[in-house]
Amino acid sequence: MDKRIYLCLAHMSGKEQEYIKEAFDTNWVVPLGPNVNAFEEDLERFIGQDKQVVALSAGTAAIHLGLVLLGVKPGDEVICQSFTFCASANPVTYLGATPVFVDSEEDTWNMDPVLLEQAINDRMAKTGKKPKAIIPVHLYGMPAKMDEICAVADKYGIPVLEDAAEALGSEYKGRKCGTFGHFGALSFNGNKMITTSGGGALIVPDETAKKEVMFYATQAREPFPYYQHERIGYNYRMSNICAGIGRGQMTVLDEHIAHHRHVHALYKEAFEDVDGITLKCNPGADWNANYWLCTILIDPVKTGTDYEAVRVALDGKGIETRPLWKPMHLQPVYAKATAYVKGVSERLFSQGLCIPAGPWVTDADVAYIVEQIKACCKKLH
Ligand SMILES: Cc1ncc(COP(=O)(O)O)c(C=O)c1O
Repeated sequence: MDKRIYLCLAHMSGKEQEYIKEAFDTNWVVPLGPNVNAFEEDLERFIGQDKQVVALSAGTAAIHLGLVLLGVKPGDEVICQSFTFCASANPVTYLGATPVFVDSEEDTWNMDPVLLEQAINDRMAKTGKKPKAIIPVHLYGMPAKMDEICAVADKYGIPVLEDAAEALGSEYKGRKCGTFGHFGALSFNGNKMITTSGGGALIVPDETAKKEVMFYATQAREPFPYYQHERIGYNYRMSNICAGIGRGQMTVLDEHIAHHRHVHALYKEAFEDVDGITLKCNPGADWNANYWLCTILIDPVKTGTDYEAVRVALDGKGIETRPLWKPMHLQPVYAKATAYVKGVSERLFSQGLCIPAGPWVTDADVAYIVEQIKACCKKLH
């Protein structure tokens, strides 16, 4: 194949430039304006549940501000999912607090609710205080077990900040990811389901919370004619230009999600009878993943190969893939962090690959990718 099949690629609707042009024509080239307001309204309509949305400069900023609003301070502990991208946990560290990592369960690859409760009890016994927040993640767009996680959180009175950065459009029990916790974070980075080039949003419960997030996102400026600051704020608001891209992207969001699910269905059929390659699928009727990235586990014993050999071989054939996220408790930067693990995320990391699924991936590409993966599995021949 002469083209390269990328894992992640921004994919435009064509309308983005109209909104950007409008912003330039009206001189709204600032981090506020009509595109920002309209993009937030589009997202609110899409997400439902009467939630409000604040558009920000990044998903990482959304998690950071969510933690600020939850009152996370130096000396606090925040429970994070170990199996994730570093941005789920780094904002905890920005605030001088400490992430405590919890392993995943097998069904969703997300935070294990049983381990979560054990971790809370153990932290309370050892530190004499409750963790300040819980950050579950809907990794690769697969909804976490939110009923169980929220039940544990409610039992101990600990707020949940959902990291839905990869899960725009994913649903659990018919409800959109990002709307279960007190706050939900979204990302519109260039590699996500939709992009604003770089950007994110915080889903909040009401207008009061929205105002508070906007206050902290614009340097915590007090309502005086001069610049008065009584608290430390941040420069985290989304630009009106980026929001213009977001408005254009919202017109194709449903199409993007449908395409990711279509590609997943093709992989599912193709890998169904391949012993040793397991495609990650919805674990039951309550789950409706957006399949932002499709993922496979490669059993070395059954296939006679491993994920790294497959990755290198596919790269040579013009197919970009990537190992699954390296768990946070294995990251050198978090080597000293407390972790409640039982081997799940470590096994996933040792066997898994992300494979292309976006709108640029055709049915013929899927057939080619599957063929090349099978060709790597010596024991299948
Ligand atoms: C799970 C997860 N959390 C948080 C983020 C942070 O989002 P951003 O890159 O927009 O800061 C990302 C993506 O980059 C992510 O994949």
